[in-house]
Amino acid sequence: MKHLALALAVLSACMQACAPGNERSERTRLMIAQTKLASDPHSWSRPNEARVTRLHWDASVDMKAHTIRAVATYGVVNVNGANEIVFDTRDLNIEEVRVNGEIQPFTLGDARPFIGAPLRIAIPADSCEVAVRYATSPDAAALLWVDGDKPFLFSQSQAILARTWLPCQDSPGVRIPYTARVQVPAGLLALMSAENPRDKSPDGVYTFRMDQPVPSYLMALAVGDVAFREIGPRTGVYAVPDLADVAAAEFSDLEAMVAAAEQLYGPYAWGRYDLLVLPAAFPFGGMENPRLTFATPTILAGDKSLVSLVAHELAHSWSGNLVTNSTWNDFWLNEGFTVYFEMRIMEAVYGKDQSEMLALLARQDLDATLLELPGDDTHLKLDLNGRDPDDGMTDIAYNKGYFFLRMVEEKVGRQRFDTFLKAYFTEHAFQVMDTEQFLTYLRARLLTEAEYTALRVDEWVYAPGLPDNAPLVGSQRMQRVDFLATGWLQQHNNTEIPWSTWSYQERYRFLSLISSASAADLATLDKSFAITATTNSEVLFKWLELSILAHYGPAYARAEEFLCEVGRRKFVLPLYEAMVNSGQLEMAKRIYSRARPGYHAVTALSVDELLTEAEQ
Ligand code: BES
Ligand code: ZN
Repeated sequence: MKHLALALAVLSACMQACAPGNERSERTRLMIAQTKLASDPHSWSRPNEARVTRLHWDASVDMKAHTIRAVATYGVVNVNGANEIVFDTRDLNIEEVRVNGEIQPFTLGDARPFIGAPLRIAIPADSCEVAVRYATSPDAAALLWVDGDKPFLFSQSQAILARTWLPCQDSPGVRIPYTARVQVPAGLLALMSAENPRDKSPDGVYTFRMDQPVPSYLMALAVGDVAFREIGPRTGVYAVPDLADVAAAEFSDLEAMVAAAEQLYGPYAWGRYDLLVLPAAFPFGGMENPRLTFATPTILAGDKSLVSLVAHELAHSWSGNLVTNSTWNDFWLNEGFTVYFEMRIMEAVYGKDQSEMLALLARQDLDATLLELPGDDTHLKLDLNGRDPDDGMTDIAYNKGYFFLRMVEEKVGRQRFDTFLKAYFTEHAFQVMDTEQFLTYLRARLLTEAEYTALRVDEWVYAPGLPDNAPLVGSQRMQRVDFLATGWLQQHNNTEIPWSTWSYQERYRFLSLISSASAADLATLDKSFAITATTNSEVLFKWLELSILAHYGPAYARAEEFLCEVGRRKFVLPLYEAMVNSGQLEMAKRIYSRARPGYHAVTALSVDELLTEAEQ
């Protein structure tokens, strides 16, 4: 086992250099296919018995019928003489299976909620090729189809939705390179988490290759009328033509961010780094699809104020995409490291002032989450067995994870910590990591036993709440905001508030601190600062939440418009929640019935749950 790990470390280092298809990379893939993976409660597949090693995906996208018909052809290694290979599927219509070119019977087991159904295919004792012909359901949870004369399609695979558009071994430890050929209607561009085209092809056929091995949750597809703008030599942005120039201006620091990230933790491993600005229905802020981050248009604030989200997704190119959480129980290894890295990129590019304001907002969100969640859900290491992995995707993984790493940094010093992290990413590139393996590495390579104990590492990872050695965020600008908010709550004196000079973080903080404001109070603020008309989505969100809670009517039209246009769950869910909590369930239901058809399943299911509970 030790030897294998060592061999893998060496092999993974040469991974990027190996052209696919050559002997060396084939051997590398076989080696990888034989590393023992942890059992994953969210996947039917048994990759320690038979595992995929490469994929060719040949697909045709029907934008009218909202379906994809495809053949997924996998190279398969039979690791230990298994008699079948198992794939995850959910809501797929499996039409035909071939093994080494011959039609083969298959069985589709019973579907379990959110896990889906196992697809079992008999295989020979040695390596083989398995091809699955299938069609997706119009309700595939990963996919959102936006109709219109310029239709758009995008996927969101994390955490376990890839199986709704592709039969796969849908566990983060199973990584494979892939190629694809995708047919879309002429006039639309297709993009994947791979080497991408810049221009539309006349016949709507596009080919893709991703040479580095990636887990299924990083499989991604988007189809739409998008244009490309170059930002730097290896960075650029795709967006609908109307937004392309705006987006290129907003993200003009992208190349500098990549350079700053490399400076910190080693070379960027994926070639190009591009962004895709999605329709506003995108349920997340961003998704770190390799080579092509998917992003919500709500970060186009016009003044670069929300680009930390890009720093975050870029950071995943190391934490998550290179070193990948073993199962969703170790999600904090993806997100906590990424928030830490995000802050370091922000500090390097925009200065400590900015990054500390962000850190303070992270602390504010974390404190709120700690009050809400049951204790067991506030451990860094989770046990999501039998639960939807979505349940574990809270601020704990992100912000408790961040403060844990920052605490270690502050104790050992930045230089020592950076050397450690750089080695961590380099030595575990293209591998999985679980919490225990990380803690072992931390003890072996950074902390003495005495330090490990003194820092209370086990308490941070395995116990609820926030240990009291959590680092304090020092932001004089935010302290000033706190002081002014306290004063404002007593005096309601708007002339004391330097709103126009404040960053988005300061505005957001201020609004968070005045949750007791009445509708009349909000009216005076709105009169002074025109907050209902703000173009910053974060500030608008906080403002609309306050307005709903205080029954401040003049903001309601904007709230409805926002909810009918934007599908980002982080904004949408709390706004409906505010309506429910302030006796405005009828309004919530009315707006939701208008807005729901435009939401992605991720958002719709969360709001469904909220409103169903509210009815009872
Ligand atoms: N990988 C996540 C998004 C995600 C997590 C999707 C879990 C599905 C399941 C992404 O990197 C992320 O964290 N996005 C955040 C933005 C970030 C700045 C905190 C988001 O979408 O809000
Ligand atoms: Zn993230």
